[in-house]
Amino acid sequence: MEYHKHYQLKELNSFRTEAYAKIFCSPTNIDELRKCLEEYPSEKKLIIGGGCNIFFTKNFDGLVIKPEFFGLHEASSEEDEDVYIEAMASEDWDSFVAYTVERKFCGLENLSLIPGTVGAAPVQNIGAYGAEVKDCIREVVAMDIHTGEVISFANNECEFSYRNSIFKQRNKYIILSVVFHLKRKFSYRPKYVDLNRELESIEDPTIEEVREAVIRVRKRKLPSEKELPNAGSFFKNPYITTDQAKKLSKDYPDLPVYPYKDGWVKTSAAFLIDKAGYKGKRVGDIGTYPNQPLIIVNYGSSDGNKIVSFMEEIKSVVKQKFSIELEPEVRIC
Ligand code: EPU
Repeated sequence: MEYHKHYQLKELNSFRTEAYAKIFCSPTNIDELRKCLEEYPSEKKLIIGGGCNIFFTKNFDGLVIKPEFFGLHEASSEEDEDVYIEAMASEDWDSFVAYTVERKFCGLENLSLIPGTVGAAPVQNIGAYGAEVKDCIREVVAMDIHTGEVISFANNECEFSYRNSIFKQRNKYIILSVVFHLKRKFSYRPKYVDLNRELESIEDPTIEEVREAVIRVRKRKLPSEKELPNAGSFFKNPYITTDQAKKLSKDYPDLPVYPYKDGWVKTSAAFLIDKAGYKGKRVGDIGTYPNQPLIIVNYGSSDGNKIVSFMEEIKSVVKQKFSIELEPEVRIC
């Protein structure tokens, strides 16, 4: 395995911002991974998957590791209703979802076309159209960055919540593989208005039809990072108190609110940004996407600080107008 010094990270983050890693390597198996951790015990470390939820504002003064772990292992027989598949961390997420849908293994179809790798999915518990990946995860196998020990986390040990997990909170584990628990039996459960509308004309949609509908809805609203550099939803949907929601609803009767816990609801960051006048707004080379203001797009800058300034501007107008603090979902390095 080669160690590269002063390595350009531009192609490794979907926002395409420029920055150099002091050291970079791509281990292809667990032994190589352990070796590179031992080789540089005192360097700061950053693990990068598809780079779809991270961007750089400065050089990384340490070791950037991009694992290249591929493979799928299926453990079930035709008669079983439950299917267990272990997918290695570097497998492309959507290709994996396509693989499961082709075999009619159910559970991940709503998460079609989300960019990134399998290993990144549990980190921020990816979600879309009423589904969250945590509901299909049996265990996550990870390596402790400091000790090299391989640990298997059962679902309830992953501390999953909205766009969060133990892997995101503690920068301490490198995900090696994820074991999914899928079902052979499929029935579409309408959960999400955009998707229901797309499937309206089909009486009892098949899993393939649901995947195709999700892909159509996503393509309409979200830019492909290959054509227009972006990192998906930039902000998390914020939680507000029910009292605050009631007050805001007087001025904004269509404010989306989703139940959360006693006294609290989740509202829509896209709605707030839209109403603050920032839908399709552009400052220099950075802007929000005209079809979905929750997405910040990079029209040609290589400087991550420009994205940060634009983010601060959005946070400040939303704060001023609604007294709501938006929090980025994307990791800023
Ligand atoms: N809205 C507006 N104006 C807009 C767009 C949306 O006011 O231009 C309002 C609408 O009221 C809409 C609401 O915002 O009902 C929610 O919008 P949307 O359904 O598009 O979803 P979202 O909350 O903006 C979340 C995820 C997406 C996921 C979609 C669909 C987060 C941070 N984002 O976005 O995830 O695809 O739901 O389920 O939870 C991602 O994380 O990269 C991502 C794309």
